[in-house]
Amino acid sequence: MGQSHLHECTDRYNAPVPMAAPSRRLDLIPPYLFAELARIKAEAVAQGADVIDLGIGDPDIPTPRPILDALAKAVEDPETHRYDESPRGWPKLLESATKWYAREFGVRLDPKTEALELIGSKDGLAHLAWAFVDPGDVVLVPDPGYPVYKVNALMAGGEVYETPLLEANGYLPNLGAIPSDVAKRAKLFYLCYPHNPTGAVATPEFYRDAVAFCREHDILLVNDMAYATVAYDGFKNPTVLQVEGAKDVAIEFHSLSKMYNMTGWRIAFALGNAAALGTLARLKSNLDSKQFPAVAEAAACALDGVSNDATLAEYARRRDVLCDGLTAAGWTIEKPKATFFVWTRIPDPKLTSKEFCERLLKEAHVLAVPGVGYGPHGEGYVRMSLTVKGDQGGARLEEAVARIRASGLIPG
Ligand SMILES: Cc1ncc(COP(=O)(O)O)c(C=O)c1O
Repeated sequence: MGQSHLHECTDRYNAPVPMAAPSRRLDLIPPYLFAELARIKAEAVAQGADVIDLGIGDPDIPTPRPILDALAKAVEDPETHRYDESPRGWPKLLESATKWYAREFGVRLDPKTEALELIGSKDGLAHLAWAFVDPGDVVLVPDPGYPVYKVNALMAGGEVYETPLLEANGYLPNLGAIPSDVAKRAKLFYLCYPHNPTGAVATPEFYRDAVAFCREHDILLVNDMAYATVAYDGFKNPTVLQVEGAKDVAIEFHSLSKMYNMTGWRIAFALGNAAALGTLARLKSNLDSKQFPAVAEAAACALDGVSNDATLAEYARRRDVLCDGLTAAGWTIEKPKATFFVWTRIPDPKLTSKEFCERLLKEAHVLAVPGVGYGPHGEGYVRMSLTVKGDQGGARLEEAVARIRASGLIPG
């Protein structure tokens, strides 16, 4: 009797448990393109290969010391241990962000209404779609582009129109080529300059035209400036909010991640149109309770005047080693003015970008990202990141150049 009861229990617990199915919207997330490359890399590493990883765009150089000190100090203040209940984010951060923007780009903004703290800019860029997009709305996204805009627009029920970014047009979208019925239904227009993955930069004239286009079609213009200050040879990026009247239709996303080697800290901010930022804040107040205030304090200290020039000088050295080295080997590569990405046509047009990267990994033990991973118009291109772990003054990149040269992947 006791034993049969035991069986009954065991059977019940061994039966497959019905598991709640993921929502259908998750089916809209595309398969992970880099899975195959990750597998080949793991295989090579397991066999003892020394893989030079030019894949990930994540600063390898530590956060500058004054920012670490500011965090340590802020942690000691019990005020930072509690919920940040301010409407738009830690007031000191928003003050510092708007002052920084006025200094860097000459545009004055109200820290109380025209700025919003974010838990990394991915948080804001992704949730923006959830705050604005209804089924049937169109979202304009760059192709190639950072995949977060497209995936969230789709999950929020929107239709995506990919604006081709062509090398011949400096990787700027051709606004005149966007069909008028698409423009009429469009709600958001995502731009990103300096651009991931191509490293392209925008011009003030382009921003002026984009603002006029969005005004005409009642579209919220969204400029992702995650790489705002990552620039070389004295180049200064223009911004969309420098265009007169841009604040009526535009918001801009800035992040401490790449500017100050702070990707793990998760701190960023959006600036611009007050109503749009209010809408995003309304959604976010139901999703998160803001970043740890001590992190916001440290970010404010960074924006108040910490220099990250040493990191930029290091990227510039690496950029020169990689671009000059490969160009000398017969693979002509243009140097980016901004971002830490080198984007170029693959040297052998008979290969797809994925085939080229697989061979690069297998034959040279160098990992790069196939351009098609950022959209169909990325096919034929490859992205190489300058944030190479363990590099000093370009030595790892010199080694990468030597291996690529020796691999025979650059046709004679
Ligand atoms: C173009 C672009 N935007 C936004 C982000 C997100 O940055 P974060 O969320 O760290 O601010 C990235 C990160 O790689 C990026 O490349």
